Amino acid sequence: MNIILLGPPGAGKGTQAQRLVEAHGMKQLSTGDMLRAAVKAGTPVGLQAKAVMDAGELVSDEIVSALIGDELDALAPGQGAIFDGYPRTAAQAASLDAILEERGQTLEHVIELDVDEDALVERITGRFTCATCGKGYHDKFEQPKVAQTCDKCGGHDFKRRPDDNEATVRTRMAEYRAKTAPILPIYEARGIVSRVDGMGDMDDVTAAIEAVLGS
Ligand code: AP5
Ligand code: MG
Repeated sequence: MNIILLGPPGAGKGTQAQRLVEAHGMKQLSTGDMLRAAVKAGTPVGLQAKAVMDAGELVSDEIVSALIGDELDALAPGQGAIFDGYPRTAAQAASLDAILEERGQTLEHVIELDVDEDALVERITGRFTCATCGKGYHDKFEQPKVAQTCDKCGGHDFKRRPDDNEATVRTRMAEYRAKTAPILPIYEARGIVSRVDGMGDMDDVTAAIEAVLGS
């Protein structure tokens, strides 16, 4: 099963994708994570993407679609993909159709996380992750159970994203409204969109997504 998690910055795409990975062995394909890895490694893609990401704008369609194609080829046979933060434009949606068709695959669900944008700034500016395994946390909503120790891997290093400041978040939201929200009707016309309330407790959001997936 291949699914898209769609929603503005801070909607909970990454949080819910990590839970689906743990519950179902699916693979999280986050173009944001791939781009941050490229920036960290100093690859040509990373060098091109860094300033764009720091400004909260969108990286070019060609770059992100190439990243997705490579990652899909690395999936285990029969392993489902969770597209997190991709597609983000009409051109990327068309590329994803072509990429899946070339591989004989289909898209089963588009899950739209319905959220209140004003609350998202608090979510994003409080976010941090384990520098070792990538598990996500939040200053107010999800602290590690033991202070300064990752629940998942026991690591002690945590990091914050350079684009998680209020000014950049506002630009990212504007990009979402202008370029990403308009792709929803493409999937609505296919009858595969489910809207889930993303403002509830994390466990309630997970339960609502599981209900959509029929598991
Ligand atoms: P990307 O990494 O995709 O960032 P984003 O879309 O802005 O989304 P976020 O990762 O900020 O939010 P999320 O929905 O994953 O929320 P999370 O689960 O972490 O993209 C970054 C940049 O890369 C872009 O700006 C662009 O430049 C570039 N890029 C990436 N993909 C691209 C593409 N396809 N095309 C072009 N450019 C691209 O949750 C946030 C926080 O809230 C966490 O701390 C979490 O613990 C907490 N939280 C989550 N759910 C809840 C809840 N229900 N209640 C309370 N707290 C919660
Ligand atoms: Mg994310």
